Amino acid sequence: MEKNPIIAGNWKMYKTIKETKDFLEKLSSSLNNQRANVYIAPSFISLFFAKEIAKDTKIKIGSQNMHYESEGAFTGEISPGMLKEIDMDFVILGHSERRNVFKEDNSLINKKVLSSLENNIQPILCIGETEKERDSNSTNEVLEDQLTKNLLNVSKTQMKNVIIAYEPVWAIGTGKTATPDIAENAHLYIRKVITKLYDKDIANSTYILYGGSVKPDNIEILLGQHNIDGALIGGASLKIDTFLEIINKS
Ligand code: 13P
Repeated sequence: MEKNPIIAGNWKMYKTIKETKDFLEKLSSSLNNQRANVYIAPSFISLFFAKEIAKDTKIKIGSQNMHYESEGAFTGEISPGMLKEIDMDFVILGHSERRNVFKEDNSLINKKVLSSLENNIQPILCIGETEKERDSNSTNEVLEDQLTKNLLNVSKTQMKNVIIAYEPVWAIGTGKTATPDIAENAHLYIRKVITKLYDKDIANSTYILYGGSVKPDNIEILLGQHNIDGALIGGASLKIDTFLEIINKS
């Protein structure tokens, strides 16, 4: 890792508004000059309050999903304009839980990526293989397929605002972290695909985060890998002490 790392918390369907406020108040008062850029993605209902607390800090606040259309008859969905109205900095797209549980496919995720960029909301595009795909030696093929389809029609200029998160599905919430070697190899391959789709400069400057059972005791070795620029963290981002320990070690 050569860049200042991004340490992002994906809170999934955890934390009420009150819990979100309490956490962010503690977090903002504990941050001074840490190297890490801190991103937090609370639930939709807490976003407005989270941004209020974070607005005079360096903490970036974003959502865990969004619809790609600007408005319409889409019951239960949130538009990019609604997120922009409350100054969202980023949006997580294509998380494996969206792909596997809510059946989002590559073409839908591509529409969301394009829409987030058009609306100036920085996408964190998640990709990653399942255990079955890894066992059948198709990890690289899956990563290339997801990148190629999810980034379709994303221009070179737009690509400069895209963050990639490599999250092997078998490592999410399982306690089974990818070994530093496995993660580094995947990140290196992702950079090769970005070089092929764009160019070497863009590939080198793109942030590629690792996600999957990141904890205080494995963050340093993961960030020590040349191609790992940060982490997208689920479980360990929910407890303030644990999350701060990760930030302080980054
Ligand atoms: P865990 O850190 O709980 O494994 O979750 C990773 C994740 O899905 C982050 O988006």
